[in-house]
Amino acid sequence: MLDLFSHAIDQARTQIEHLRAELEQHNHRYYVLDDPTITDAEYDALMIELRNLETQYPELITPDSPSQRIGGEPPKNVQQNLFEFAETEQRKGRKRLDAFAEVVHRTPMLSLNNAFSDAEVLAFDARIRETLGVEIVEYAVEPKFDGLAITLTYQDGVFLQGATRGDGATGEDVTENLRTVRAIPLRLDAQSPLTIEPTSTSVRPEPVEGQGTAINSASTAHASTGSARAVELLEVRGEVLMFKADFAKLNAAQQDKGEKAFANPRNAAAGSLRQLDSRITAKRRLSFFAYGVGLCDGAMLPEQHAAQMAWLKTLGLPVTDLCRVVRGAQGLLDYYRDIGEQRAHLPFDIDGVVYKVNDLAQQAQLGFVSRAPRWAIAHKFPAEEAETILLAIDVQVGRTGAITPVARLAPVQVGGVVVTNATLHNEDEIRRKDIHIGDTVIVRRAGDVIPEVARVVLEKRPADAQVFVMPTHCECGAHLAKQADEAVWRCTGGLSCAAQRKEALRHFASRRAMNIEGLGDKLVEQLVDEARIHTPADIYTLSLDQLVTLPRMGEKSAQNLLAAIDHSRATTLARFIFALGIRNVGESTAKDLALHFGTLDALLEANFDRLQQVRDVGPIVAQSMVDFLAENHNREVIEQLRLYVSWQEHQLAEHLPLSGLTFVLTGTLPTLTRDEAKAKLEALGAKVSGSVSKKTHYVVAGEEAGSKLEKAQALGVTVLDEAGLVGMLGETE
Ligand code: IVH
Repeated sequence: MLDLFSHAIDQARTQIEHLRAELEQHNHRYYVLDDPTITDAEYDALMIELRNLETQYPELITPDSPSQRIGGEPPKNVQQNLFEFAETEQRKGRKRLDAFAEVVHRTPMLSLNNAFSDAEVLAFDARIRETLGVEIVEYAVEPKFDGLAITLTYQDGVFLQGATRGDGATGEDVTENLRTVRAIPLRLDAQSPLTIEPTSTSVRPEPVEGQGTAINSASTAHASTGSARAVELLEVRGEVLMFKADFAKLNAAQQDKGEKAFANPRNAAAGSLRQLDSRITAKRRLSFFAYGVGLCDGAMLPEQHAAQMAWLKTLGLPVTDLCRVVRGAQGLLDYYRDIGEQRAHLPFDIDGVVYKVNDLAQQAQLGFVSRAPRWAIAHKFPAEEAETILLAIDVQVGRTGAITPVARLAPVQVGGVVVTNATLHNEDEIRRKDIHIGDTVIVRRAGDVIPEVARVVLEKRPADAQVFVMPTHCECGAHLAKQADEAVWRCTGGLSCAAQRKEALRHFASRRAMNIEGLGDKLVEQLVDEARIHTPADIYTLSLDQLVTLPRMGEKSAQNLLAAIDHSRATTLARFIFALGIRNVGESTAKDLALHFGTLDALLEANFDRLQQVRDVGPIVAQSMVDFLAENHNREVIEQLRLYVSWQEHQLAEHLPLSGLTFVLTGTLPTLTRDEAKAKLEALGAKVSGSVSKKTHYVVAGEEAGSKLEKAQALGVTVLDEAGLVGMLGETE
């Protein structure tokens, strides 16, 4: 009996393995080779057979079985979330939820700088040639997919985790959803060559006449004799997207069901990927293209980008065959035009092309600025435009008081979305573009950027078109003011301006700041209008009794909101800084500040010079910080907030013994040169300044010290000689 059973299970195992291999082979043919040999119905029949066998023998189910691509119920705690937040979400008209776990990327996911003109591309190439000291550069060129960046982690060849880009440093864990994407292999092809020599013929680019060099010929490497050992750890970077045809089918189905249609394939892909219920993701046909390697342990990576892509293809990962290798700026521009011509006929949306220096050693030499590599650039296609009527101009008050005129437009389709509002930037722009109310205007929309009014169709100006007059006062009653060097009018009401307070509170509660689910636009509006909250700190004093008296606020919603507020109390220093809404301090600057200072106190004590030592912080950001912290009411709000919210502080390595101290060197020291002394001080975190002021902590004076020494004495600044300095340096060791 036992024998019979074990025989049956063996047979089932063999059949299951056979079906799995066959299904994955068909996925590979469909998504990677773009050459399917069976119909969807035949594929489904194989899948049903596999699933039936796995239902009979559940012990044979493995996570990398293609049957696992159907998605599953969200975990129990997530279901709870789903239930709790459903009400709020419905009110906001959103279906997606913010309940994915955070993933810290092993290597950051960078972004790209953009070029919009040939001149910018020429400048990019010139910069690279100059830095590398070469006459001509070889580039790998690719389409710029209009989807969502993700990273896929494979451990020993098995798909382990997938995450969204997020802010580049941390993303969201969308593994279960990505498992349902058939274009993503659950197991890498073990037959792929583990080590590829850059000269290996199988991945060597082959010239394609007149079109640069195709790299996809490497699919032939598939059969080459490689070790069957999988790569230990591989992080693949790429884009999840929805093909135009799949998007059309999805929207038709949505409409049939009476549900909302998606604006464009990108939104549909994003919406599908961020579903908590992966069974829904499974029903949407998403695709994927790889465009880079984030990390690779246990295999020798090819030393050219294009060869890496070819290698990824041999592993079974989809790489578009629109990739090429070209030489020089002319090669780049030719590729741009070539892809531009194909754009409308491609099965998926692209919004430009990407140029990458092909040689990895050269890439390393070029390095990065901020969050984008110097060795790559996105050359964007021109923004899409449409003609419509400008019905009215309203002004909006931002959280820092900036007044932005906004055009109200007759609804018009631009690049797949209906646009009814567009920014007019500021008063000067309205004058420069000669925009009148009632004009026929051209609206432009580039990617995710807020639509703008590009220009007026003057021939169509009606006789009664009206000139826009900038208001002199804000809706709060305070007058508007403009600094001489600025184009922007600002409300002078500060925190007494309800409109500014509302914006500041919305920002404070927003997802990337304190992330208070449910504290949306409408509610902030009500709470401010009814004088329930004035400052962000007041949010933490709201009570159930108070909330339930608000119109349209049930007890359950009020409880959910209080839970979300409570949840936001445990945060990070970076989020807290960002949430304060300081002018010019965006999310990434907030992170840099948090990382640099480590504690809120250290940040609050920092002066202009000290702030400028932070990575990417220049005089503008430093001045914004100084201005913000100079306002007593801002410091008061911070102190109040500290009573409610907390984060883990860390004394950082950067927090060096002489951090925050400013030295001035003057005269000739007996043994140290000025540069040596400066280097030693700076290494310990001190700032060395050229002039003495009240903010100077120490003046180090040598022989023939002149006016600086006198000034130090006049201001009562401590004066050290070299021995004193050396003693101080020594103490800190
Ligand atoms: S490479 C280090 N290649 O563009 C460079 N990105 O602006 C990292 N994208 O977040 C990106 N197609 O979502 C690269 N062929 C391509 C791309 C591509 C689309 C997106 C990607 C990224 C964004 C950067």
